[in-house]
Amino acid sequence: MTRGRLITFEGGEGAGKSTQAVRLARRLEALGIVARQTREPGGSPFGEQVRRFILSPDTEPHAPLAEACLFSAARADHLDKIIRPALGRGDWVISDRFTDSTRAYQGAAGGLDAGAIATLERLVLGETRIDLTIVLDLDARVGLTRADQRRTAQVHGAFIAADTFEARTLAFHERLRQGFLDIAKTEPARVAVLDGSQNAERIDEQVWALIEARLGPLPAAEAVS
Ligand code: TYD
Repeated sequence: MTRGRLITFEGGEGAGKSTQAVRLARRLEALGIVARQTREPGGSPFGEQVRRFILSPDTEPHAPLAEACLFSAARADHLDKIIRPALGRGDWVISDRFTDSTRAYQGAAGGLDAGAIATLERLVLGETRIDLTIVLDLDARVGLTRADQRRTAQVHGAFIAADTFEARTLAFHERLRQGFLDIAKTEPARVAVLDGSQNAERIDEQVWALIEARLGPLPAAEAVS
């Protein structure tokens, strides 16, 4: 059996990653490919526990290294329990955020040394490789406004406090955006950037074009040829 594929969506706040991850999973399922949709932080029961802890506004302030270690601990479990078994079965895994979020949030924006992040990444990923990463790029101000609107729209318009990460400054989110763009520049074979300000349908088409171009031929295409 062939190994499945690991696809990750990355980007700042409010860039539309979750919407695109759902759409892609549906498209793949329509071709008979088993697509497992997941997210970080989270994905596995332990990962989800770590997620609640890290994103809680009650969690005490901590340094980017401590943060990177927590995200990495959650990721190690996510890989063990969910991602590697799925890839081994030949399934495709679509993760809403993954290792590039640590590089961008704790590294480029948070100031943690790139060498420390690379060490953690090597340790946690082991032999596992990401087949394709799609960065949804968006102006930091626009993304923050979208994230604000999403929050306010929840629970009949009642205001819900911004989580620890959304509450950071605009300058932080601008460094973050540049961090993702720099990753794409460094690893163009793995990472593609799409304009996140477009409507969801258009982005969906571009995501699909990337999947076909970089990970094809897909089952339906094989049947036609
Ligand atoms: P989430 O509510 O999932 O944000 P979004 O909807 O924007 O994906 O919260 C995840 C937060 O955790 C988000 O602000 C990014 C941050 N994060 C890191 O800082 N480092 C990481 O390695 C990961 C996976 C996420």
